[in-house]
Amino acid sequence: MLLRWTRGLPLSPPLLLLLGPLGPFSPGARAGPAQAEDAVELDFSTERPVHLVSPAFLSFTIDANLATDPRFLTFLGSPKLRTLARGLSPAYLRFGGTKTDFLIFDPKKESTFEERSYWQSQVNQDICKSGSIPSDVEKRLQLEWPFQEQLLLRSQYQKKFKNSTYSRSSVDMLYTFANCSGLDLIFGLNALLRTADLRWNSSNAQLLLDYCSSRSYNISWELGNEPNSFRKKAGIFIDGLQLGEDFIELRKLLGKFTVKNAKLYGPDVGQPRGKTVKMLKSFLKAGGGVIDSVTWHHYYLNGRIATKEDFLNPDVLDTFSSSVQKVFQVVEETRPHKKVWLGETSSAYGGGAPLLSNSFAAGFMWLDKLGLSARMGIEVVMRQVFFGAGNYHLVDDNFEPLPDYWLSLLFKKLVGTKVLVANVKSPETSKLRVYLHCTNINHPRYKEGDLTLYALNLYNVTKNLQLPYHLFGKRVDKYLIKPSGPDGLLSNWEAFGCKE
Ligand SMILES: *[C@@H]1O[C@H](CO)[C@@H](O)[C@H](O)[C@H]1NC(C)=O
Ligand SMILES: *[C@@H]1O[C@H](CO)[C@@H](O)[C@H](O)[C@H]1NC(C)=O
Ligand SMILES: *[C@@H]1O[C@H](CO)[C@@H](O)[C@H](O)[C@H]1NC(C)=O
Ligand SMILES: *[C@@H]1O[C@H](CO)[C@@H](O)[C@H](O)[C@H]1NC(C)=O
Ligand SMILES: *[C@@H]1O[C@H](CO)[C@@H](O)[C@H](O)[C@H]1NC(C)=O
Repeated sequence: MLLRWTRGLPLSPPLLLLLGPLGPFSPGARAGPAQAEDAVELDFSTERPVHLVSPAFLSFTIDANLATDPRFLTFLGSPKLRTLARGLSPAYLRFGGTKTDFLIFDPKKESTFEERSYWQSQVNQDICKSGSIPSDVEKRLQLEWPFQEQLLLRSQYQKKFKNSTYSRSSVDMLYTFANCSGLDLIFGLNALLRTADLRWNSSNAQLLLDYCSSRSYNISWELGNEPNSFRKKAGIFIDGLQLGEDFIELRKLLGKFTVKNAKLYGPDVGQPRGKTVKMLKSFLKAGGGVIDSVTWHHYYLNGRIATKEDFLNPDVLDTFSSSVQKVFQVVEETRPHKKVWLGETSSAYGGGAPLLSNSFAAGFMWLDKLGLSARMGIEVVMRQVFFGAGNYHLVDDNFEPLPDYWLSLLFKKLVGTKVLVANVKSPETSKLRVYLHCTNINHPRYKEGDLTLYALNLYNVTKNLQLPYHLFGKRVDKYLIKPSGPDGLLSNWEAFGCKE
């Protein structure tokens, strides 16, 4: 539920975004004395923002495995995909994932037939206004994609990765997609290219940087993906100290890059457990000075065994905040005040949970993660993935938006960067989760002083929320998001109900 209203101005609108399962929030949630006896009272603290998130707070990724066979990067030429991505701008587009450390740039490599057909079909000089993927190419790629997806997911599951190379054309495809969709591209460089004494070998990165310089591509960078599990993935152990030194080396290279002040993020570690915490700590001590934000990754569940009950379980949702606390603790100890970003995150790892991560039910994890992240001070959250293999995508294989896409779009339009605090005045709060921000004033309907409340009802019955007393009588715009059709929570579609 997203609730929003205007402070101080009588009769101006609050606004409500509600996400609920079987019996979502009562349409009777109102800015007036509660009528239902079981109304849950809300308490708002709006004196000053507790945090300020980035305008690109809600961002997303393309998994680097899409370049395993670069022919499939041609999908990024789809005007529909670009239009959907543009809806979520401003945002970062992070190109990364396990495959990051198995991709090698080959500037002499020929582009694939599919990529070439795409570029050749673009007659318009303005590449952003140009046409579609040639339809025979698109059809063939879509026919082959399910097999490619299986291949990618299998190699991820078995942790068996092969090196592959990508061409200048692949870089162009990716950059053009980002640039034409109003996204800032973050590119993950291969950190497993090593010298005999295990230092990072930057020669391949230099080739890529030279090419990007020659095209004046404005790109931000990362180095390596989940380095805490390099041993499992590649049989090499790199400690945090070495990785820190590698980042210092990369920062030096970026100094020679034509686009000035290119940003560098890292170290993209996995969840803060045991050895990963140790690695993060020593990385930050050694290399924390050269990064612009600290990035880490989070998934609630293993996609192969996750159930619908897990997706709706408040205890599962709560595990996220303890991970966030651990990361902040390390950052405060080593690099106080450094910005913290979720560099890759979704409901379940391994490509997501089949029939769940792409359904309405996934919206609870997504909206709750956005709410908790903002409330706890994370500046940017990058959702795995916008489009690609698995089930946790925002847009499906036919370029059709899924429930989490629509939820993201509403969030982007209505939720502003100033984070406030809302609480449920009840001892049992874990199933009613409420978050409060100033409204996004770039939305033409709203202005400075408006508030956006978003709320999740994890009960299987209707709940009534009662706004704080001083808001009684104010106008409320309410966006109620419900599952649609016989599949209920497992639906791939959602319905928006709006009622004053
Ligand atoms: C990938 O290439 C690098 C550099 O040639 C090499 O060190 C590494 O062992 C290769 N990895 C695999 C999985 O073949
Ligand atoms: C896209 O490229 C154009 C021309 O290089 C540039 O002016 C613009 O700022 C770029 N947009 C993004 C989002 O990078
Ligand atoms: C780094 O990698 C390049 C390309 O594989 C190789 O030619 C070069 O010798 C390597 N440098 C070191 C110091 O290992
Ligand atoms: C490059 O992109 C960053 C965002 O990632 C932006 O802040 C910066 O102004 C851009 N630089 C240029 C020269 O366009
Ligand atoms: C709602 O959840 C309760 C447990 O919290 C359960 O006992 C009840 O059967 C559920 N009702 C429906 C309609 O699923």
